[in-house]
Amino acid sequence: MADVDSWLAALEARHLANLTRPELTRALRALSSCYVERRDRLAQGGALEGAGKRAAFALFYAPLHFLTVSHIVDALNAGRRPVQQILDLGCGTGAAGVAWATSMDATPAVIGIDRSAWAVDEANWTYRHFGMRGRASTGDLTRAPIRADARTGMLLAYAVNELPPERRAVLLERLVQRVRGGAALLVVEPIARRTADWWDEWRAALAREGARGDDWRFAADLPPLLRSIVRGAGLDPRELTARTIAKL
Ligand SMILES: C[S@@+](CC[C@H](N)C(=O)[O-])C[C@H]1O[C@@H](n2cnc3c(N)ncnc32)[C@H](O)[C@@H]1O
Repeated sequence: MADVDSWLAALEARHLANLTRPELTRALRALSSCYVERRDRLAQGGALEGAGKRAAFALFYAPLHFLTVSHIVDALNAGRRPVQQILDLGCGTGAAGVAWATSMDATPAVIGIDRSAWAVDEANWTYRHFGMRGRASTGDLTRAPIRADARTGMLLAYAVNELPPERRAVLLERLVQRVRGGAALLVVEPIARRTADWWDEWRAALAREGARGDDWRFAADLPPLLRSIVRGAGLDPRELTARTIAKL
C-alpha cells in the first residue's frame, strides 16, 4: 500500500519551501480558473506556467487526482486485471499512474509521458518516492508511439480534455486499436458542467470494444494538508467526482 502521508509531507516540504500560504492560495485560484473558466489556455500549457501554479498543482490537484483514482480503481476492482506496465499519457506529476499501479499486488512499472519538462521531473521524483520502477519523459502524447499490448494498462487521467479536437480524434483511433490488441485502458475526466461532445463519442467508440463508462462520487475525506489548502482558497469539496471509460 502506498504511503500517502509521507508523500504529502514530502510534497509540502518540497513545494512550500519557497512559497508563502497566501501565495499558494492565489496560485490555486489562478490554476482553478484556468481549469474552469479560461480553458482556451490549456492547449498551450498555460496551467503549468509559473512557480506558483506548479506548486498549487503538485500540492493540491495531484493528490486530489491520486485520491480520486485510488477510489476509482478500488471500485472497478482494477487490481484484478494485472498488467506489467502502465503507460501514463499526460502523466503530470505521476499521481494517477501511481494510484493505479499500487492497486495491484505485483506493482507494474510506470512509463509516463508529458509535454511539460517540469511535470516530467516531478513525476520521476514521485516514482522514486513510491519506489516505483519506470520513468517519465517529455513528449507529445498524441504523437508518441503507444507501445501497448495485453500486458499494458493505458492511462489518460485529466489529460484528454486538454488536447486540440483534431489530435483527440487521432488518439481515439490509436487507443481503439490498442484495446483491440488486448491492452487495458482507463480514461479519467472531471464531470463537466457543459456537455463535451468528445466524451460521448469516446464512450460510444470504446463501448463497442467492451469498455464501460461510469460517473463517480466519493465522500471527500481529505487529509489535513489538502483540507487546509482548500479552506484557504475558499473551496470546500464535499465529494470527489469523476467520470471514466474503462476497459480492464
Ligand atoms: C490536468 S493535468 C493531469 C496530470 C495527471 N494525469 C494527473 O492525473 O494528475 C494534464 C496533463 O496533461 C499534459 N498534457 C496536455 N497535453 C499534452 C500533450 N499533447 N502531450 C503530453 N502531455 C500533455 C499536461 O502537461 C498536464 O501535465
